[in-house]
Amino acid sequence: MKPFVIALDGPAAAGKGTLAKRLAAHFGFAHLDTGALYRAVGLAVLKAGGDPTDAAAATKAAQNLAPATLRDPALRSAAAGDASSKVAAIPGVRQALFDFQRRFAATAPGPDGRPCSGVVLDGRDIGTVICPDAPVKIFVTATPEARAQRRLKELQERGETAIYARVLEDIRARDARDAARADAPMKAADDAVHLDTSDLDIDQVFERAKEIVERTIVDQRRS
Ligand code: C5P
Repeated sequence: MKPFVIALDGPAAAGKGTLAKRLAAHFGFAHLDTGALYRAVGLAVLKAGGDPTDAAAATKAAQNLAPATLRDPALRSAAAGDASSKVAAIPGVRQALFDFQRRFAATAPGPDGRPCSGVVLDGRDIGTVICPDAPVKIFVTATPEARAQRRLKELQERGETAIYARVLEDIRARDARDAARADAPMKAADDAVHLDTSDLDIDQVFERAKEIVERTIVDQRRS
């Protein structure tokens, strides 16, 4: 049986990550935060003293990505976020990470190593490129202002010094880079459900997404 795939896409700080974790825990599915892969590549380039726009250096870092780096707390820093959207525009980087993501979606490895019945992937191109056949595709959005407020809180809680105007500027710059790149730009799949989280709290977002998933599971059983 192929794992049931939930594809969550959308811009930075729209709430995809929290939603993905909640859905995975609720349904007992495996979860892959695909943004962490790009952040790890960006961070590896920065740590080596390189430039994240250097295609050769970034591609090499993606090809040699060590799974342990995906747990580095520095992945969530503003610097890693900025570097991630630069390396993400490099086709060699996307190619190197493509197989990893496809394999994860096909095998859904659980925490104990045994396969789960489903998988949640969150990112920018899951519904369009990585898992175009996913039965559930949700494009999670929020206004840039709402996302900047959330990201500011997250950075401050981690002890980073951050100011709202700068965070908003970074979010807008990352949105523009992610939407404009030629290779796998951020966009909603034609068959994705749009979920605007600007005025919703996480419980409300979760309830709406859960309904979409449950409805799809029931429809699949019927057909
Ligand atoms: O989701 P997160 O903000 O952690 O993603 C970091 C960056 O990684 C994004 O700004 C985007 O450039 C890139 N990314 C991507 N494709 C994905 C996931 C993330 O290009 N599937």
